[in-house]
Amino acid sequence: MVPNPSLDHTVKLLFRDSELRPKLAIVLGSGFGPVQERVEVVKEIPYAKLPGFPQPTVQGHSSKLVLGMLGGTPVAVLCGRAHYYEGHSMAEVTFAVRVLAAFGIRDLLLTNAAGGVSRRFRPGDFMRLTDHINFMGANPLRGPCPPGLARFLDLTQVYDPTLGGLLDKAAKRARARWHRGVYLALSGPTYETPAEIRAFAKLGADAVGMSTVPEAIVARHLGLRVAAVSCISNQAAGLGPHALSHDEVLATAKEASRHSGALLEEFARLYGRL
Ligand code: HPA
Repeated sequence: MVPNPSLDHTVKLLFRDSELRPKLAIVLGSGFGPVQERVEVVKEIPYAKLPGFPQPTVQGHSSKLVLGMLGGTPVAVLCGRAHYYEGHSMAEVTFAVRVLAAFGIRDLLLTNAAGGVSRRFRPGDFMRLTDHINFMGANPLRGPCPPGLARFLDLTQVYDPTLGGLLDKAAKRARARWHRGVYLALSGPTYETPAEIRAFAKLGADAVGMSTVPEAIVARHLGLRVAAVSCISNQAAGLGPHALSHDEVLATAKEASRHSGALLEEFARLYGRL
């Protein structure tokens, strides 16, 4: 790892502030926020108190790290994330993942809200990522490569099949409308044009969004297992009857929150039994 004083400092804070040593971390994206209510909190730390953590600026995202129990399993939960479109660098967007890895996290579940590109998807459905297409125009591993880590990282299997299997099982128990598919990541902050969505569909995308891929790449670089799930908050541009809005994204996500809460709680429970 490139020496980074705030990383060391932040990791020390986590070790100092709680005795919990979770192996699983969950990043709550838009629409997964209410999952917080299911966590038995041991320690809550606002990002403002964690050196190096960028402050999220997006409505609907809170900004704290919670250490606690979910479904009887110790977890670290990142409530809110920093996005590339907010102007943060890739290093800032992925800083939290580096902190979690140094804190001893082995497995990372990333969640997000995404637009449905597949015509089979409806708002309120969920999609487990089986793969991604990085169209963000940037890669978080660009730049010096720390000694001991791969310069050219293999991404044949970013999303871990064992964790994916747990998600499938959890989705069944949570009665979520469930799909598997490919997530295409863009920098945003604009939504896409209908022509772009038609193009992305031809390229093999099932959903589009503005997050997750940088964190997944850095986590894989550090040897973590990764799983990811999208809440389909809207049909992508040109597929549905009306224009897209962040309010629609938040409203659908809120409606789906009963399922997203149950899904993540069941996942954590199953994970604890691995
Ligand atoms: N496009 C990109 N990102 C998104 C969308 C979308 O339609 N919905 C939620 N995040």
